[in-house]
Amino acid sequence: MYKPMEIAKGIYNVGCRDWDIRDFHGYSTYQGTTYNAFLIVDEKIVLVDTVKKEFSKELLDNISKIIDPEKIDIVISNHTEMDHSGALPAVMHRIGEEKPIYCSKMGKRNLGSHFTGKLNLISVDNGQELAIGERTLSFMETKMLHWPDSMFTYVKEDGILFSSDAFGQHYAGDAMFDDEIGGHIMEHAAKYFANILLNYAPRVEQLLTKVAESGLAINMICPDHGIIWRKNPGTIIDAYARWSKQECAPKALIVFDTMWKSTAAMAREIARGVESQGVRVRVMNTRKCHRSDIMTEMLDAKALVVGSPTLNNGIFPVVADVLTYIKGLRPKNRMAVAFGSFGWSGEAVKILNKEFEAMDLEIVDPGLAVKYVPDSEDLVRCFDLGVTIGQKVTESFS
Ligand code: FEO
Repeated sequence: MYKPMEIAKGIYNVGCRDWDIRDFHGYSTYQGTTYNAFLIVDEKIVLVDTVKKEFSKELLDNISKIIDPEKIDIVISNHTEMDHSGALPAVMHRIGEEKPIYCSKMGKRNLGSHFTGKLNLISVDNGQELAIGERTLSFMETKMLHWPDSMFTYVKEDGILFSSDAFGQHYAGDAMFDDEIGGHIMEHAAKYFANILLNYAPRVEQLLTKVAESGLAINMICPDHGIIWRKNPGTIIDAYARWSKQECAPKALIVFDTMWKSTAAMAREIARGVESQGVRVRVMNTRKCHRSDIMTEMLDAKALVVGSPTLNNGIFPVVADVLTYIKGLRPKNRMAVAFGSFGWSGEAVKILNKEFEAMDLEIVDPGLAVKYVPDSEDLVRCFDLGVTIGQKVTESFS
């Protein structure tokens, strides 16, 4: 349980930590996560977002340590997804079902689709303001970041942005703020961006431009997951600007699965060839590395190199899983190469190339297929393929 903490004068984080969660709909959350929710105590008392249904009691207990929950006047729902709205019925039951819930237009529709009870849903327009006493809240539509209903709520007087999922990280620890944790939090933030927001990168870029042009003072960013950016909110804003442009590094990501270690041997030689050109390389076996960790490595990899043996005239199921996942998150501006061993039919490389085409990746080499077990000549061909990949990556940065 979080000890409810005053994060700014009269504003509290009353959310909950989920220490145990390890799989967040297919995303490996090996350090758990938090569901942050915020209480603003002003002339009107406002709750911004709730938590997952299972944590309803904990949320209400946290609020009770600050005020009687029945005194809450207004609830704001920045996002319908159930990790932030699951506790809404319990909250409304406790505070009074007639109390208003402010949300986006799509939020009104989506909350109505998730809950059967009577909710007093009031939709707000982009830029609409709500005076709550000494403070004014301003709502900012952030459609498809990452759901159609997503929005931000901004406290004008404090320069505090309640950013829903954006700028978040799946991380449960003893720290609540960026200045209480080391730079390693950026790994979690990068993983979050790669796995949740990459497919909406152009929208992130547009939003950041709009915010920069507006001259909005952002003193603190409070996402619904992970730590709050109070000391250096610019750190995460700059990282989002970089990631949303899909800027890559001179790095190749080699992803493979193997039956009898032939494709694994090819992967190692290709990696050696890539490295010989001074290009960074990461080799990930799809049966040992989680798809969400592979996706994180994809965030800055210029080249995606995929290896699969041929199985039943197709590619390995786990490789297909990872490719489907990567494809959905739409990485752009990358090159791709396929490889793999086969016994008799040998379709894998052809299928992988078709997948690359569908993903709009630049195929910089037709790829390499080796029959059964690679011999010393085959391994030289693998090394040479790695050299070619390394050179193409280097050229793309010159
Ligand atoms: Fe954290 Fe889109 O929910």
